[in-house]
Amino acid sequence: MTPPYGLKGRAAIVTGATRGIGLAVARALTEAGARVCVTARNAQEVERTAAALGGSGLPGDVSDPAHLHALTDLCVAEFGRLDIVVNNAATNRPYGPLMTVDPLDWRTAFTVNVEAPLRLTQHAWRAWMRDHGGAVVNICTEGADHVGPNTGTYGTTKSALLHLTRQLAGELAPKVRVNSVSPGLIRTEMARFVWQHAEQQITDTMPLGRIGDPEDIARAVAWLASDAAQWVTGADLVVDGGTRVRAAQSARGSAVQAALRSRTPGDLP
Ligand SMILES: NC(=O)c1ccc[n+]([C@@H]2O[C@H](COP(=O)([O-])OP(=O)(O)OC[C@H]3O[C@@H](n4cnc5c(N)ncnc54)[C@H](OP(=O)(O)O)[C@@H]3O)[C@@H](O)[C@H]2O)c1
Repeated sequence: MTPPYGLKGRAAIVTGATRGIGLAVARALTEAGARVCVTARNAQEVERTAAALGGSGLPGDVSDPAHLHALTDLCVAEFGRLDIVVNNAATNRPYGPLMTVDPLDWRTAFTVNVEAPLRLTQHAWRAWMRDHGGAVVNICTEGADHVGPNTGTYGTTKSALLHLTRQLAGELAPKVRVNSVSPGLIRTEMARFVWQHAEQQITDTMPLGRIGDPEDIARAVAWLASDAAQWVTGADLVVDGGTRVRAAQSARGSAVQAALRSRTPGDLP
C-alpha cells in the first residue's frame, strides 16, 4: 500500500520556491515522491533549485499571466500531469499605514497575492485537475485573522486569499481540494525585519517557545496535498507555534506587533 503521506508519481508546481517556505515545501514534496516544478523571479536561483531537487523550473514573476500559463504548460509537458499547486509567492509591500499607500502599489499586491493564485489554479484546472483531480494549497498568514501595524495591504490581500480558498474549495469539489496554511512568524528573508532584532522578545511570548522554521509549514502543506487529507477541503491550517492562544498566559504580550511598529519599510530586505 502507498503510504498515505506519499506523493509518488504526482507532479507539483510551487511558486516562490527558491528560498524560505517555498523551498522547504518544494523539498518536502520531493522527499514525499513528487516531481516538482519551481518558479521565482531570479533565474539563477530557479535553475539552482530545480537542479538540486531533480525537478524542473521556469523563472518569472507570478504577476505576469503569461508566466503562469507557461509554467503550467511546462509542468504538464515535463511530467505529463499536474496534481498539486502550492501558491506561495507573495509580497508584503507596500508597508505602512493605509492612508499613505499608493493605490497602484496596492493593486500590485493584489495581483501577486490574490490574482496570481486564482490564475494558476484556473490553468491547473483546465490543463489537468478538472479531469483528473488534484490539490491546491494557498499560503495565507496567521495575521489575516486580525489587524496589525503597517500591514494593512498585506493583511487585506491575505484575507482575500483566505476567502478565495474557501470559494474555490466549494466550486472545485469533488475533483479538487483547496486548502490553505496560515503561518505565524517564520525565520525567512521576508520576515527578517520582524525577527532579526527582536527574536528573544518574540520567543518569550510564544507558547511553543520559538519562532517557526520553513519546515514547520512544509510539513503541513505536504499533508494537505496528500491523500491523508482526502476528506479535507476549504480548511485553513494555522501553523503558528501558538501565537493565537498566547493571551491565555497573561505575561505574554505581542512582541511581533511591537517589532512591526518600530521597524520602517527601509528595514525590509
Ligand atoms: N515568513 C513569515 O513569517 C510568513 C508568515 C506568514 C505568511 N508567510 C507567507 O509565506 C509565503 C512565503 O514567504 P517567505 O517568508 O518564505 O518569503 P521569502 O523567504 O522572501 O521567499 C519568497 C520566495 O518567493 C519568490 N517571489 C517573491 N515574489 C515573487 C513574484 N512576484 N513572482 C515569483 N516569485 C516571487 C522569491 O524569489 P524571487 O525574489 O527570486 O522572486 C522567493 O523564492 C508568502 O506567501 C508569505 O506571505 C510568511
